[in-house]
Amino acid sequence: METILLEGRGDLTEWREAARSLLLARTEPRTIDWRCRNGAADDLFAPAAEVPETAVATAAIASTVTVPKAFLSLAQAVICHSDPLRFQLLYRVLFRLQEERTLLEVLSNADVAQLNAMEKSVRRDCHKMTAFVRFKEINAEEGPARRRFLAWFEPDHHIVARVAPFFQRRFTDMDWIIATPKGTAAWDGEVLTISTQPAENPMLTDQTDTLWRTYFSNIFNPARLKVKMMMTEMPKKYWKNLPEAELIPGLIAGAEASVIAMAERAASEAPLFHQRLQAIAQAEPEIVRPPAGTLEELREEARHCTRCALHCSATQTVFGEGPQDAEIMIVGEQPGDQEDLAGRPFVGPAGAVFNAVAEEVGLERQSTYVTNAVKHFKYEPHGKRRIHQKPNVGEVQHCKWWLTRELALVKPKLVVAMGSTALMALTDSRQRLTDLRGEMLQLGAGQSLLVTVHPAYLLRIPDEGRKHEEMARFRSDIARAAAFGRRAMSDVRLEQQNAGNG
Ligand code: URA
Repeated sequence: METILLEGRGDLTEWREAARSLLLARTEPRTIDWRCRNGAADDLFAPAAEVPETAVATAAIASTVTVPKAFLSLAQAVICHSDPLRFQLLYRVLFRLQEERTLLEVLSNADVAQLNAMEKSVRRDCHKMTAFVRFKEINAEEGPARRRFLAWFEPDHHIVARVAPFFQRRFTDMDWIIATPKGTAAWDGEVLTISTQPAENPMLTDQTDTLWRTYFSNIFNPARLKVKMMMTEMPKKYWKNLPEAELIPGLIAGAEASVIAMAERAASEAPLFHQRLQAIAQAEPEIVRPPAGTLEELREEARHCTRCALHCSATQTVFGEGPQDAEIMIVGEQPGDQEDLAGRPFVGPAGAVFNAVAEEVGLERQSTYVTNAVKHFKYEPHGKRRIHQKPNVGEVQHCKWWLTRELALVKPKLVVAMGSTALMALTDSRQRLTDLRGEMLQLGAGQSLLVTVHPAYLLRIPDEGRKHEEMARFRSDIARAAAFGRRAMSDVRLEQQNAGNG
């Protein structure tokens, strides 16, 4: 009996290399003892032989092995299964496939049925991971560079590498780590790193736990409750890592009473933004539009913007405002809930911070052009609330079309980028805001760029001492902008005087 020792952490390559050599040597499956360093059949004293010498020698001279495509894709899933017998089973089927080319089609065959069952179990585990990973924000107080998240998940199988690309696609614009007892995946915006080393539960909680609970209790419909189906969809073994799961017993127990209460309640008013959306949907479409030679024309054009999907759910375009001859342009991220309803930038809580600081340091908002990198509100509905979502790179790029035209028409001498989204939109670079913050940079010919934090970031800092510090830095950044504006104004006056004298 030959022993093959594998790591067995979901990597097909090591098994495939060994299996290919064994197959070329026509090694009978029953003569191989497949062992796994981390599986139940693990044996610390097993010889560390990888592939038997005889097999390697024969492999060098034998012809190649052909493997049906269907087997390969099955093997890619089954190798992630945590059952240590998977290697043996895979090799047995591969061996038989050399003679019985249609074996995989015989679903009643015990080996084929077992392979299919294992593949299904891995697929289900992958699906559950995509549904039940709950990210918690880490180091939020460190500043407004890319936000960082950590999640803990306990899969049944070695699926981290298999599922990680899903999270990479879905959460490409944030840094994240998914730690599991079967390995870790990490994304930093550029590189997806997979480690097969078991991690430990970091036992994190944050305010998103409350959001999950609010969300879950809002989508829970007692009138459609089917406990058995719910348990299949959200098996109990996942509950301990799901913040919302603690609500389930109470929601089930109170379901009947809730249905009666729902039936007795009068229909509620739709939120205000629904009415606005309805009105926009019913408005006559405008066909002829003037070319955008002025800000007003550009604003009118932007009202009909459909360059990205954000226009579908926002109430309206929130275009920049301020005089066309402003010396200073302030660029934020995107309108928030209140801006979306009002149709004006910076009128909500972040706007209040900006206005207060601007007034304190003598920056006149009326003579400043204030706009955003993205002109539509991006949010996720949570019940009747709309929770702000950071725009992604694609949305910022689409909306840059408008920002570029605003810059061309206003021609400000100084542009202030408030936050990393504005910085990215204005410079097309992924430079960290913390590296450029407070710097006076060159943006275009005769145009400077000052980089500072977004006022909403100041509102989120939980520690009072740090908040105070950061607020002071923000004030000094805006004071610099104000001083720049005053200098520019006196230059203009001087020029006008000289022209008058000349
Ligand atoms: N945040 C922004 O970036 N812009 C606004 O208009 C409001 C909040």
